Amino acid sequence: MINNFTKQCQQSKLSIICEQLADISKDAFSVNNGNIPKWEAAIDDIKKYSKGKVDYQVPYLHIHTKDGDTDTLQQSLKLLMPWRKGPYQIGSLQLDSEWRGDMKWDRVLPHIQSLKGKSVLDVGSGNGYFTYLMALAGAKIALGIEPFLLFNYQFQALRTLMDNPPNAFVLPLKLEQIPTEPLFDTVFSMGVLYHQKDHLLHLQQLKNVLTNGGELILETLIIDAKYGEQIIPKDRYARMRNVWCLPSTDTLHGWLESAGFQDIKLADVTQTTPKEQRATHWIGDNTQSLADFLDPNDSNLTIEGLPAPKRAIFICQK
Ligand SMILES: C[S@@+](CC[C@H](N)C(=O)[O-])C[C@H]1O[C@@H](n2cnc3c(N)ncnc32)[C@H](O)[C@@H]1O
Repeated sequence: MINNFTKQCQQSKLSIICEQLADISKDAFSVNNGNIPKWEAAIDDIKKYSKGKVDYQVPYLHIHTKDGDTDTLQQSLKLLMPWRKGPYQIGSLQLDSEWRGDMKWDRVLPHIQSLKGKSVLDVGSGNGYFTYLMALAGAKIALGIEPFLLFNYQFQALRTLMDNPPNAFVLPLKLEQIPTEPLFDTVFSMGVLYHQKDHLLHLQQLKNVLTNGGELILETLIIDAKYGEQIIPKDRYARMRNVWCLPSTDTLHGWLESAGFQDIKLADVTQTTPKEQRATHWIGDNTQSLADFLDPNDSNLTIEGLPAPKRAIFICQK
């Protein structure tokens, strides 16, 4: 996988950082994680399955494999649960992830500059559902970075099934490990800002890796202005542990200005619904999802009594 990345990377604008990214990724994959043998065995089994071309057929990223032993394929893919991001279809097997990623992509795509020929960074890419869509939308290279190893293995499992895979890669990196070179034409940070203890540092790091005139797509949880400038959850938020900031859109606009972004536009605000985030049999033993994280008597509140999840998309330029 890393070799495929290096080959493609060297033919792109990112060539000066390829070796460094590959080295950090190799180190990340060589940690002592007891699950790795199971994940590698799953991928070895998946390799025995036929390959197919990939395209996007809403809502699925569809890999057109010839149907073989779908039950065995399903079992192997289930060794890589929970499948949060997707959905994917492999032959006739529908991998219905917890999230309907297509719904977010629909809100993002009409507002952004064309990705054709661009070098694109997808920060916090999960298993690469959006990274693949970025490559299919014409990016010269779409690099997803995702520190959580399981999601890197999910990405590889899917890539294994693809004939002539798009120029999308997911590496086990954090944004803070990307060399501070302004090389990416478009940078996506979707669902990541609220996980950062230092939100301004995250915005600064996003700006550092963007080319001058490059575009940032920032998607994150927000609150309505009536709740104040921002909420810093004391404990959990919608049962999530590490949520550090829920700004109003005005506050977030101010943060983007302070970080030095220009032409800041609020493209969308949408409350997350149980249609977009739902429990499916692909998420494993803990079968709770959004519907269980909301106040049973008031779906505008979380179970902790905070405003229910609402997400904003800001588009701005460096
Ligand atoms: C809520 S998920 C969002 C996934 C996807 N981007 C989306 O919009 O659906 C956030 C992901 O960001 C990753 N993440 C958190 N901090 C990060 C960092 N500093 N650099 C890169 N990824 C990070 C997490 O591991 C997690 O998988």
